[in-house]
Amino acid sequence: MTTRVILDCDPGHDDALAILLAARRLDLRAITTVAGNQTLARTTLNARRMCTVAGITDVPIAAGADQPLAQDPLHAGEIHGESGLDGPDFPPPTVDADPRTALQLASDVLREPTTVIATGPLTNVATFLQNGVGNIDRIVLMGGSTGRGNMAPLAEFNILADPEAADIVFRSGLPITMCGLDVTHRALATPPVLRRIQQIGTPLAGICHDLLTYFADSYRAYFGFESPPLHDPVAVAAVIDPTIISARPLNVEIELTGTHTRGATVVDLDRVTGRKPNALVATGLDVDRFWDLMIGAVEQ
Ligand code: BDR
Ligand code: CA
Repeated sequence: MTTRVILDCDPGHDDALAILLAARRLDLRAITTVAGNQTLARTTLNARRMCTVAGITDVPIAAGADQPLAQDPLHAGEIHGESGLDGPDFPPPTVDADPRTALQLASDVLREPTTVIATGPLTNVATFLQNGVGNIDRIVLMGGSTGRGNMAPLAEFNILADPEAADIVFRSGLPITMCGLDVTHRALATPPVLRRIQQIGTPLAGICHDLLTYFADSYRAYFGFESPPLHDPVAVAAVIDPTIISARPLNVEIELTGTHTRGATVVDLDRVTGRKPNALVATGLDVDRFWDLMIGAVEQ
């Protein structure tokens, strides 16, 4: 029995591969989109594009929040390009968006207990919680870090893009698994990984290869990384096989007011605050098994 999930995302190169992995290996009941890497219109179009090329025709896609709860939108065009999914030549999408809002679709799916995987800013997930949507059995998210950030010295993009939403999620009392930069920066799409994907030889593998090649160029130019970290599929992999990560129950607070640190995830690694753990924080990743899962999904 595979886990029943909703994937809330902002595609985004790594989100696109997260969609593929979730569709192939989990009971994916809905994709909800949020503004983040690009505008809501673009992230929604990108979800439709990825589903079209991957033949994912039975999963409804619904658009959610077009801006954060309490600040101006933050996009990542310098990493994901103007479309949010620059690189490959996508055919016109044949998979449509669902007429329901993300909240309506999630409420429908959540008539039964479901895991929410979140790989974008947490605006939609916070909105589900604020509207009393029940039956979320846990939230597994890509976001945060126990130390340094990426889009600010101490803040990771998904949290920085909507800190108030992240605060609502981390205070929800629901079981949370946080897959932050500590683990996703180990999921590097190295040249041997790119070759394995290219050798699959299918049109979908070609698109995944082009996505990762664009992503590699962005990460080299912007961050000086030799290979790009494939953040979002790590959260999906942690649902497929929880033993792929190692994790510790820790307290995580979201910095909302710091002069230089807004959007930071303040993780009590040494348990010095006396605050109760509110998340399982991933600290280790089995990199080889992660890539076997991801490449297996491209092949499938
Ligand atoms: C996160 O930010 C986005 O650019 C990626 O899609 C990922 O979800 C990494 O910080
Ligand atoms: Ca993302």
